[in-house]
Amino acid sequence: MTQTNRRILLAQRPNGKPRLEDFKLDEAPLPEPQDGQVLLKILYLSLDPYMRGRMSAGKSYAKPVGIGEVMEGGTVGQIIASRHPAFSPGDIVLSHSGWQSFAVADGASLRKLDPAAAPVSTALGVLGMPGFTAYAGLLTIGQPKPGETVVVAAASGAVGSAVGQIAKIVGARAVGIAGGAQKCAFVRDQLGFDAVVDHHTSDFPSQLRAACPQGVDVYFENVGGPVWDAVFPLLNDFARVPVCGLIAQYNDTGRPAGPDRLPHLMRDVLSRSLLIRGFIQREFADQRPAFYTQMAAWIASGQVQYREDVVDGLDAAPEAFIGLLEGRNFGKLVVHVADHAEDEGL
Ligand SMILES: NC(=O)c1ccc[n+]([C@@H]2O[C@H](COP(=O)([O-])OP(=O)(O)OC[C@H]3O[C@@H](n4cnc5c(N)ncnc54)[C@H](OP(=O)(O)O)[C@@H]3O)[C@@H](O)[C@H]2O)c1
Repeated sequence: MTQTNRRILLAQRPNGKPRLEDFKLDEAPLPEPQDGQVLLKILYLSLDPYMRGRMSAGKSYAKPVGIGEVMEGGTVGQIIASRHPAFSPGDIVLSHSGWQSFAVADGASLRKLDPAAAPVSTALGVLGMPGFTAYAGLLTIGQPKPGETVVVAAASGAVGSAVGQIAKIVGARAVGIAGGAQKCAFVRDQLGFDAVVDHHTSDFPSQLRAACPQGVDVYFENVGGPVWDAVFPLLNDFARVPVCGLIAQYNDTGRPAGPDRLPHLMRDVLSRSLLIRGFIQREFADQRPAFYTQMAAWIASGQVQYREDVVDGLDAAPEAFIGLLEGRNFGKLVVHVADHAEDEGL
């Protein structure tokens, strides 16, 4: 084969916001599958906020990407050669192959996808890791009850959009926070949230208070920063806060300026009996089979809708990822790397 593998490597660790110079495009020979492995052509690459953490060397729940290594990421690929008995050329699979156009993967690590059941890119979004994060974090930690108020930020995004819609399904009132009029209109009119507030407006805290007249029973924390500051005073006694992500803080280079507010936080955790619990979605891996069945049914019935923001070409991934950390994406961000071949000539 004359094709080469186009790869995006981590060139250097960012200081603050990532820049294009932190990435490097390179070309390498196609990798060779060994026994038990397959060769994949990558069709879609998922871009997710956690990748910012993998670019830094600081202490984290996962190992960072090394300098000169391929950037990490979830992918949907098509098998072009197989040395694993369960997979054949042409099969479409979910893998974790990173920012590259071809990859070798162990058959045991793959999940076969049915292109007739759903667009295969959804395995990276609503029917994949972000959708599962919303499902497990909201239902297991948030435990919303009918009539309660659930607030979620980044509400037009991959996780937040599912959180609000699941909250509605269980009979709660869903209040979204999103950046800009277009995203807010989508969250309210298309996703069916009960209210939405734009966090870019100058009176955002008072607008949020007005949107939550009964206070907040569940705050699904996706962003941190000033949004958390606005939500915190509204938390009711016994409120639950699944801490899923803090995207507003991912580019920070040091501790936030200002006084230490931790003692005040602890006082309120005690006096208002708050439950604040961080989580990484894989902690709930045993719930994945139930999630796949339930989410597919909700999508089929129209109770859960989703939006994808599809960027064309692997080369566009660094710029799109930088934009994700600034709120430039509108929906689940995926890179379309290559077309799916209908025949096995591939
Ligand atoms: N714990 C886990 O296992 C787990 C798994 C998946 C994701 N997460 C976390 O969940 C959160 C959402 O992820 P996602 O994949 O669904 O991303 P996303 O919502 O599709 O995209 C990120 C969104 O975050 C918002 N944002 C960016 N910078 C912000 C800032 N400075 N202040 C406020 N909002 C900002 C933007 O929306 P607006 O323009 O609307 O503000 C942006 O579109 C992230 O924090 C991510 O790290 C955690």
